[in-house]
Amino acid sequence: MNFNLEKLNIFANPLKMFFPKKMVGIDIGTSSIKVAEVSIWGQGKTLENYGQIKSSSLYKEPFRSVERGSYLLSNYFVSRAVKAILNEAKISTKAVIFSIPDFSTFCVSFELPPMSEKEIKEAVYFTAPQYIPLPITETTLDWKIVEGASGDKESKLKVFLVAIPNQIIQDYQKVAKMAGLELYAVEAEAFSIARALAGESKKCICLIDIGVQSTTINIVDKGNLKKSYSFNFAGGQLTHAVSSALGLGREEAEKIKNEQGLTPAKDKISETLYLLIDPLLIEVKDILYDFYAKNGKEADEIYLTGGTSALPGLQEYFKEVLKKNVEIPNCFSEFLYPPIIGGTLEKMAPAFSAAVGAALGGLETQN
Ligand SMILES: Nc1ncnc2c1ncn2[C@@H]1O[C@H](COP(=O)(O)OP(=O)(O)OP(=O)(O)O)[C@@H](O)[C@H]1O
Ligand SMILES: [Mg+2]
Repeated sequence: MNFNLEKLNIFANPLKMFFPKKMVGIDIGTSSIKVAEVSIWGQGKTLENYGQIKSSSLYKEPFRSVERGSYLLSNYFVSRAVKAILNEAKISTKAVIFSIPDFSTFCVSFELPPMSEKEIKEAVYFTAPQYIPLPITETTLDWKIVEGASGDKESKLKVFLVAIPNQIIQDYQKVAKMAGLELYAVEAEAFSIARALAGESKKCICLIDIGVQSTTINIVDKGNLKKSYSFNFAGGQLTHAVSSALGLGREEAEKIKNEQGLTPAKDKISETLYLLIDPLLIEVKDILYDFYAKNGKEADEIYLTGGTSALPGLQEYFKEVLKKNVEIPNCFSEFLYPPIIGGTLEKMAPAFSAAVGAALGGLETQN
């Protein structure tokens, strides 16, 4: 499952000098930073601590800029915010894995002819430039064979490739250092989310993460991430549309959007929101159709995650249009934690999937 942690560990923690029993996962989202500290004991998982800080509570700007491809607003501010969460949540574990957002990574899949294990690396490096819009020398590549077996002369190989610009990895290394953490690994967000919500599932799941700035549509088959697509649509656009339609400021518009969502009301906000959500549903249908056409497999279920999955009426609307069971899974549900915080965790869960999945990945590598 955590193939890319293993490989990315090459630069993050070359000798695996430490073998932590607890791990911290961090997701630096546009609107907030989420931190989860987890531990594994035997088969049991414990949520040790968690914390979140909204960018609006610290600075006027989001933690990440709106332009695609650009990265953290400031390593200094972000590391200060991370430190503040660690202090507040009393997290003393130093080992950290960062989940890297979809718009800072490139995920593609392609086929290779039958070949031996040894030949794969060279073939991947040779083929990758066709798909990755960045100089390969400035990029870290990580891949997994998701279909076919190396060494089998009959079987073509399907490769799932992730590319992360080196600059982005260096920025995360700086943030970790400035926050007093030891970077254990970094991994693309899609893997973290897939592990947190569908890692043990035997089903074929379409996992959709809707945040503030972007949405990812992922296909996870029997726990393995097979496809990952990223779109610019997300909750920020919904807020903007409500703000324009009602002539309100961002904060007020966000409040109305989150309370009313797709529920019919006098101000006809839902009609404005449907206009933005429908194109996303068309993308989901196209992706599911394409996956079926190429793999002969239908998604059994749809999972929604990310803060925007809580938009009132969204789950029902997805169900109605896609004619499939649509769940909003709770990434904390398999963890031990004090029962008194169960209600709070349930509400926060959709925003924490990436942080929890990243932390779990670090503990899996030690088994
Ligand atoms: N009840 C709700 N209804 C609708 N949207 C909500 C609700 N609660 C939170 N949100 C939205 O969720 C978004 C925050 O989600 P999340 O924390 O997943 O985003 P992020 O990780 O910061 O962003 P990104 O992943 O795009 O960088 C905000 O746009 C917020 O308005
Ligand atoms: Mg996010």
